[in-house]
This record gives sequence, structure tokens and C-alpha cells, in this order.
Amino acid sequence: MSDLIYKKNNLAFSHVDIGHLAKKHKTPFFVYSEEILVKNYIEFFDGAKNAGLKNPLVCFALKSNPNLEVLKVLAKLGSGADIVSGGELKRALQAGIPSHKIVFSGVGKTEEEILYALNVSKNGIYSFNVESIEELELINVCAKKLKRVARICFRLNPVVKPKTHKHISTGNKTHKFGLLEKDILESLHNKKLWSHSKLVGLSVHIGSQLLDLKATKRALMILSAVALKMGPDLEFIDVGGGLGVDYHPDETSRLPSIHNYMELVHTNLNKYFYAHTETKPRIVFEPGRRIVAKAGIFVMKVLRNKISEKNIFVIVDGGMNDFMRPSLYGAYHGLIPVKNVPATQHCHIVGPICETTDCFGSNRLMPKFNSGDLLVLKDTGAYGFSMGSNYNLRGRPLELLIKKDKKIKIINKAQDYTDLL
Ligand code: LLP
Repeated sequence: MSDLIYKKNNLAFSHVDIGHLAKKHKTPFFVYSEEILVKNYIEFFDGAKNAGLKNPLVCFALKSNPNLEVLKVLAKLGSGADIVSGGELKRALQAGIPSHKIVFSGVGKTEEEILYALNVSKNGIYSFNVESIEELELINVCAKKLKRVARICFRLNPVVKPKTHKHISTGNKTHKFGLLEKDILESLHNKKLWSHSKLVGLSVHIGSQLLDLKATKRALMILSAVALKMGPDLEFIDVGGGLGVDYHPDETSRLPSIHNYMELVHTNLNKYFYAHTETKPRIVFEPGRRIVAKAGIFVMKVLRNKISEKNIFVIVDGGMNDFMRPSLYGAYHGLIPVKNVPATQHCHIVGPICETTDCFGSNRLMPKFNSGDLLVLKDTGAYGFSMGSNYNLRGRPLELLIKKDKKIKIINKAQDYTDLL
């Protein structure tokens, strides 16, 4: 059953009436559902176990949604964290995610961030997912300074071309991410780099919003071959994140199920890696979108209509500063009126920002709107609030959580002028 349905012509999300919520809380706002979040995490984790992957570790990618309360829900379920900054590290720890479940990716880790990560516990974090040899050098120097041993995982660039938007593709030579096989293997012989560092893992992340898993399969094959060449020291193999969701109805039939994805991971690692070694590294995952995208919606109010000959603009109070995906990637997101009224017009749903790209949907078939009517932008739990800004000096919107008992919790207050000016 869908999580967004009309009940007596009023839209409900995760069984909560949106119109009701908007009477109590000023639009625009994000609403997340604990129930959906929990369901998605468990489906992912159990999927890995059921496919036969032993002792999997799911490290939720904080960049997709770093809200503290969202993370607390995931932490309680046993989730780890994939982080890319000192800020995300602090937030993960605040949420109760233990340091031994945190992997640190990103090409630009600073000395300050590295020292912080090494210092969070006696053993630091679970791993630094290293993206360049200079970074490894710096981590080793930092660990020496602190008289610690840094746990190192190399992020492999497998040189593959996944089918996805070019801005979120990361697994090829032209991308800044990961290290080429030869550079990884060469570095293993350079003793200087390893005085205070220990090799523990090999990772790969080839891109995001993946629906076609051909490149994923290839990446797993290459990852396995490199892992075998690295020897018996690996404690884990990290297959990254990237599994997509169906934002557009046309994508539903192409959407890989968790079951199929886990089978693909299991089958290929078995065939290309485990079958050729006695060692049994565990598998780490770094999903973001698949866990949280569908657990959130963005609720907006219609400010007014504007008609320019054949172009009907419906101007809403949410903007690209609140939710960037359509303007940044031309991404499609479903738009649904909160009142179930027959659709009669094609219109453009636009925000108040002074940019032409501030448009949530062009030529959408919609009912006639009046000022004050409500609209929902679907599937905005991932890369929504986290990518927002104060552009045009607009305050950041409110975030709400529908708890399991259907109580509503304010999990981030809206900013007003006093916060900004
Ligand atoms: N691991 C690493 C190293 C990553 O760089 C990312 C995402 C993930 C895991 C999580 O990927 P996911 O499972 O969420 O696809 N802002 C873009 C997405 C950028 C993704 C960046 N890296 C969007 O809104 O589509």
C-alpha cells in the first residue's frame, strides 16, 4: 500500500492528515515518517542477511539526511554511518552511532578532521576510506602524532560507467573519487605510509540513483579482483551506496528490489572473491537515498496563480533553496494536491526564488488552485533539507517527524528573520 493516499479526499502521509498538519505548522515544511524509515532500514539490513551475507554493516550515508532525530531512529536499529566531514562525524556520535560503525569517505578530509576522527576513541573510527595517496600520508602522520594506529580502507575507482545523471556518477577516471588499482597496489609496498596505519578494507562507490545494476556488477567483479591481490588483511569489503528509488512512475518497473540487489552483491562476491580465498571479510553498505528518500515529503502552500498567455504558473511558498534536486539535476519529483480535486489544467509549479530554474514541475496536470491550497512534493527525505540553503535570505524550513505512535514531533524549527539577520 502506498504511504501517500487520499482518505475522504484529503491526502494522508503515513496515516497522518496533511491538511491537519498544515493548520498547526507554517508551510513550507518537511515531514518524515519513523514507520517508513524503520521499514526501509530493516528491509535493507535483513535483505543483506537473508541473501547470505554474514555480519553485514549498514552505514547510513549522513549526507542524504543528517537530522539528529532521524539518525537516532537509525542508530537504535543498529545502523552505522558513512560520513564526509567533521560535522557529520559529530552528528553521528551525537545520535548514538558508535565510532566502530563509522566510515569516513571524501576526497578533502582536513588535518583537523582526521585528528578528530582518530581521537574519538582508542581505536578511532571503523575506517578512513582513503581517496588519494597524499591523504594516506597525512593520516599516517596524524596517527603518529597521536600515537595511534589509523584503520585504512582504500576507495577503489573501478573505472566503470553507471547509467545515471552525470553529476552523480563517481566511478570513472575522469571523476575525482577513489584510487586506481595500480596506485593502491603500489602504495602497499611503501612502508613509510604504513608506520601508523593498518589496512582493513577496500571500498567502491560508483554513483547514486542507480536503477540499472550492470555497472554495479562490473564494479563488484573488479573490486573482488583487487581485494584478492591485496592479500589476507582485509576485515571488510565496502560496496558503497547508490541504490536508486522510483521518483517517476516510469521507473517503478525498472526499480531493483532489495532482494535482487542483495542477491547480485552476494552472487558476485561469492563467485569472484570468496570462492578464491580462505578469508571472510564482512560486507559494509553505505546506502542513503534508498533508506530515506521515500520516508519524507515536502509540504507547500500555493501563494497565487499567474497566467502568461498559455503558461499557467502556480507560485508556491517552497523554493529551490529548500529542495534543490529539480533545479540542480532536472530531477523529477511527483507533485500531488492535498485536496483530491479533478485535474483540469497543465501548469508550472514554481517557487519564489529569483532563478528561472526554481521550478518543481513543468506542464504538470493539476487541478485549479486557489491561494492557500496545499501541495506535496514527493520523495524528498533524501538530499532535501541537507542540500538546502538560505539563498535569497530565506529561512530554512521546519522539519517534522511522524512518530510510530502517530504523534508529531518538531525535529528542527523553522528559521525566522532573527536567526538570519
Ligand atoms: N557513499 C559515498 C561514498 C557517497 O558519495 C554517497 C553519495 C553515498 C554513499 C550514498 O549514496 P546513495 O545511496 O544515497 O545514492 N545530491 C545527489 C546525490 C549525491 C550523492 C553523493 N554521494 C542527489 O540528490 O541525487
